[in-house]
Amino acid sequence: MAEIIDGKKISQEIKDELKEKVAAMHAQGQEVTLAVVLVGQDPASCVYVRNKKRACEYIGIRSLSYELAEDTSEEEVLALIDKLNGDKDVNGILVQLPLPKHMDEDKITRAIDPLKDVDGFHPQNVGALSIGLPGFVSCTPAGIIQLLKRSHIDMEGKHCVIVGRSNIVGKPMALLMLRENATVTVTHSKTKDLASVTRQADILIVAIGKKQFITADYVKEGVVVIDVGMHRDENNHLCGDVAYDEVASHCSAITPVPGGVGPMTIAMLMHNCLESVDLQK
Ligand code: GUN
Repeated sequence: MAEIIDGKKISQEIKDELKEKVAAMHAQGQEVTLAVVLVGQDPASCVYVRNKKRACEYIGIRSLSYELAEDTSEEEVLALIDKLNGDKDVNGILVQLPLPKHMDEDKITRAIDPLKDVDGFHPQNVGALSIGLPGFVSCTPAGIIQLLKRSHIDMEGKHCVIVGRSNIVGKPMALLMLRENATVTVTHSKTKDLASVTRQADILIVAIGKKQFITADYVKEGVVVIDVGMHRDENNHLCGDVAYDEVASHCSAITPVPGGVGPMTIAMLMHNCLESVDLQK
C-alpha cells in the first residue's frame, strides 16, 4: 500500500510554525505585510487570492488587497508596483497571474523589487536559485521539497524525473532537486518515448498540465509520485496529471489531488513573506 502524502496536514504544520514566528516578530514590534494585486476577475484567480489572504490572516501577516478592473492599463499596474516597491511597510508583493491579455506578464514580473518578489518569479531570484545564492524560491517547487523532507523521503542519489519544464514548476524543481543531490532528468511534451524515461524514476514529479496523463505503464514499482496537476474529471471531481486510481498501487508514496501539492504552495508563499523581512534587513 502506498503512503499517501498528506499535503493538507504538512501545510498546516508549516503554517502553525510560521504563526509562532510571526507572534515572536510582533512581540519585537516587527510587522509582516503582503500586498496582493489582482487584475480582473478570473474565477480561479479570485479563489487563489482569497485563500492567500485567508492564510495571511491565520498566520498574522497583514495583507493589503489591490483589486483592479480588467481594463486597467499596464502603466497603472506598473505605477502601483512602483509605489509598493517604495513603501517600507510592504514586505512582499504578489501579482496574481494570469494577467489580462493586454499586459506583458514578463514586464510586470520584472518590475517587482526582487527583495519583495515572494513568488520568486523575478529573473534575479531565478538566477540566484540557479547558482545557489540567497533569494526567493518559487512556491510550488519549494513546497514539494518540504513535502518530501517532512515525509522522510530521501532525495540524495535518487533519480528524480520531472515531467514539464515550466518556469514556475519544472525548471526550479530541477534546480532544487540538484541542491538535494538527486540525479535529475527533465522531460517535456517533445520527449521521445516518455514512458521509458519516467519508468526509470525513483521520484516522479508530474507538472505537465494534462488530465490523468500518467498511467500505470509510466511508473516502476516503488516509485514516489508527486502530482502538481489540477483539473476536473468527467464527474466534475478534482483530479491531477496522474491517473491516481491505477498508479497509486505501484507507488511507495503518492500525493493525492486535492490535498497534496496544492496546499503547500500557499504555505511556502507565507514562508517567503517571513523571509522577505530578513532579506530586506
Ligand atoms: N497563478 C497560478 N499560480 C500562481 C502563483 O503561484 N503565483 C501567482 N502570482 N500567480 C499564480
